[in-house]
Amino acid sequence: MRLILLGPPGAGKGTQAKRLKEKFNIPQVSTGDILRDAIKDKTELGNKAKEYMDEGRLVPDDIVVGLIKQRIVESDCKKGFILDGFPRNMAQAVQLSETLEKMSQNIDSVVEIEVNAKMLIDRLTGRMTCSSCGAMFHEKNHPPKVSGICDSCGSNDLYKRPDDNKETIMKRFEVYEQETAPLKGFYRKMGILKTTGGDGTLDDVFSRVCGLVT
Ligand code: AP5
Ligand code: MG
Repeated sequence: MRLILLGPPGAGKGTQAKRLKEKFNIPQVSTGDILRDAIKDKTELGNKAKEYMDEGRLVPDDIVVGLIKQRIVESDCKKGFILDGFPRNMAQAVQLSETLEKMSQNIDSVVEIEVNAKMLIDRLTGRMTCSSCGAMFHEKNHPPKVSGICDSCGSNDLYKRPDDNKETIMKRFEVYEQETAPLKGFYRKMGILKTTGGDGTLDDVFSRVCGLVT
């Protein structure tokens, strides 16, 4: 199964991708996570990406498309994958289609998760991520069982993403509307766009997403 999760910042793409990964035993491929790891490791890629991410702008296409092309040929992607945060504009979508065609593969479903702006801001400003295992929490909606401690791995290093401040969030919304939202039409024409509301509990959204892809 090859899936794309589409939706604005804070819609729950990463949260749902982690659950889908467990259920279907296919990897989550998140360009945001790959870039954040590169920043953490202070690689050349990380240094380049940081200036864009801190401002809420898209990292140049050649960089991200290159990352994806390398990642989806790895052996764990043979059975399928969940793309989280890619593609982000038409150029990326077209390059993805061309790459998959050469591999005689195709995307089965594009799941769009819709959430209103007020809820998105609340989710992003309250998000906490575990720096060790990447598990995600929310101060109010989904707090860790013990304050400051990751439920999954026990780490005490839960951090707030630097791009989750109000100003950068607004820039990310603008970029989503201008560059990413047009992908809905692209995938609708291909007959693979499926849309669901991202409101309700994590379990509610998960069961709706599963209902759309199985
Ligand atoms: P990226 O990391 O992809 O961020 P994003 O698209 O802005 O989306 P988020 O990760 O913020 O939100 P999400 O939908 O994953 O929500 P989550 O599950 O965490 O990209 C970051 C940057 O990297 C970009 O700005 C760009 O610079 C660069 N980049 C990445 N990909 C790129 C590409 N392809 N091309 C160019 N540049 C690229 O949930 C959010 C919070 O809500 C969490 O706290 C969670 O616990 C909570 N939550 C989730 N679901 C629910 C629910 N149902 N109820 C209550 N709370 C919930
Ligand atoms: Mg995410």
